[in-house]
Amino acid sequence: MATDRSPDADASLFDTIVNLSKRRGFAFPSAEIYGGFRSTYDYGPVGVLLLRNVKEAWWRAMVQRRHDVVGLDAAVLSPPAVWEASGHLESFTDPLVDCRACGTRHRADKLEDPDRCPACGARDTFTEARQFNLMFSTQAGPVADAGATAYLRPETAQGMFVDFTQVMTTARKKPPFGIAQVGKTFRNEITPGNFVFRTREFEQMEMEFFVPPAEAQRWHEYWCAERLRWYVDLGMPVDKLRLRPHEPDELSHYSSATSDVEFLFPWGWDELEGIANRGDFDLSAHSKASGEKLDYFDQTTGERYTPHVVEPAAGVTRAAFAFLLAAYDTEEVRGETRVVLRLHPRLAPYKVAVLPLSKKVELTDPARQVFASLSDRFMVDYDETQAIGRRYRRQDELGTPLCVTYDFESVDDGAVTVRDRDTMEQVRVPIDELVTHVTDRLGL
Ligand code: GAP
Repeated sequence: MATDRSPDADASLFDTIVNLSKRRGFAFPSAEIYGGFRSTYDYGPVGVLLLRNVKEAWWRAMVQRRHDVVGLDAAVLSPPAVWEASGHLESFTDPLVDCRACGTRHRADKLEDPDRCPACGARDTFTEARQFNLMFSTQAGPVADAGATAYLRPETAQGMFVDFTQVMTTARKKPPFGIAQVGKTFRNEITPGNFVFRTREFEQMEMEFFVPPAEAQRWHEYWCAERLRWYVDLGMPVDKLRLRPHEPDELSHYSSATSDVEFLFPWGWDELEGIANRGDFDLSAHSKASGEKLDYFDQTTGERYTPHVVEPAAGVTRAAFAFLLAAYDTEEVRGETRVVLRLHPRLAPYKVAVLPLSKKVELTDPARQVFASLSDRFMVDYDETQAIGRRYRRQDELGTPLCVTYDFESVDDGAVTVRDRDTMEQVRVPIDELVTHVTDRLGL
């Protein structure tokens, strides 16, 4: 489906965030000294922290705080048998068209005008659409024969299906229960783009929730609501989020119903996460292909059944991008524009920045001790260069919720100034109460 453009979408925000990401070390093109490499991105010192925090927040909500979900870290490489059974070898395809005039390739289902090439503007120059498989294949082992073919997983989900019995038995779980996984995924996208929104290498956070067949619809509704709430709880404005059920012709080959959590991106509403009802498609397919039983025997009812699966599947990198877009704000302060990322404290790369007022050693030595005491608990930045105002502005742009300034008075009174990112209010706090103060203020 082509992107749903909205009059509320702010197109200029896209360039602003791409520039800020590069300038401040969130994300930038990979292998840039060689001209970059096909829409791959590297995440810099603060980007890697943001990604870790997104994954940590997801794991906390989906695994840590639930008695009915356990984790898994399955292999990225897998044999063709897995993808044959899952249907990906046959059906994980996108329709590809070539422009005869300029030679560019496009996804037929994402074209704004199906007859006009978006690269050169020529009309009626597209070839017939052909199905292009999105999986990356490689060779495992030193001999490149057909038996050595392996695939890089295009979704983390299959690990949870293939390992279903192993995990259920060792974790002593029974339906309804879930298996969650966070990890790298690879898709040979025809048209990657929009910064990190669609890339060929990305990370997913997926959970397969195995339920008695009669309960699948109820759990699907439950997980749609839960997943929408997760974004709101982490500070995304509700008017920038919506749930959209898929039309029948949009459904993946394994899904009987899917709803997307959509975000209002700078180009319009687009997918953040999909919540699918996969039925018994995967467990049945792997059971048939492997000859192994992938079902559950309910001793209380004497019934044996193949569980149905409800799957909330989110992208780490896509979510991080959306959190940056949602957090970006500017305001006038004493005639100057202040840029501030109002990231939720749980997501902010640094929770605190420790800033000695001057570079004099009588301030930097004790400031480093303050850093040491805080960094045992939180991710803390330490910065002693430039004027204090400029250092505050830099931390505002990184989304750091609190700045701690060690000044000349601190030497005498054993207290520091704590500045709030959002209100810019400053309070004096004794150094020996600082860890508790920060913990309370950030609600962590
Ligand atoms: N197991 C189901 C599944 O993979 P999906 O909708 O294809 O479903 C889930 O992917 C999520 O992964 C998407 O909602 C999106 O956030 C993320 N994602 C998918 N393709 C992506 C890509 N090429 N680049 C970045 N993120 C992607």
